[in-house]
Amino acid sequence: MANKVKVRICVGTSCFVMGAAQIQSLEFNAPADIAEQIEIVEERCMNLCKDVKTKYNNGPFVFVNDELVEEATYEKVVNKIREEIKKSC
Ligand code: FES
Repeated sequence: MANKVKVRICVGTSCFVMGAAQIQSLEFNAPADIAEQIEIVEERCMNLCKDVKTKYNNGPFVFVNDELVEEATYEKVVNKIREEIKKSC
């Protein structure tokens, strides 16, 4: 696979307290089938939390390539990564 799936995790305060820390563990503890195919980037507040209720659901917010995962959990992000890998095959 030429391009890795880019996973941008918001680690701003609001996302962090809502569970982003668990998702950060992907960096060192990703499932074997995706570990070599992802690039993890941690970002400060993506400014999505200010529009919670009007535009977005709750955080944590994670982008998997260009797809936004709201109320992100480790499992949700792993599933989205697998979808993106399938798309590019
Ligand atoms: S803290 Fe994550 S979008 Fe603001």
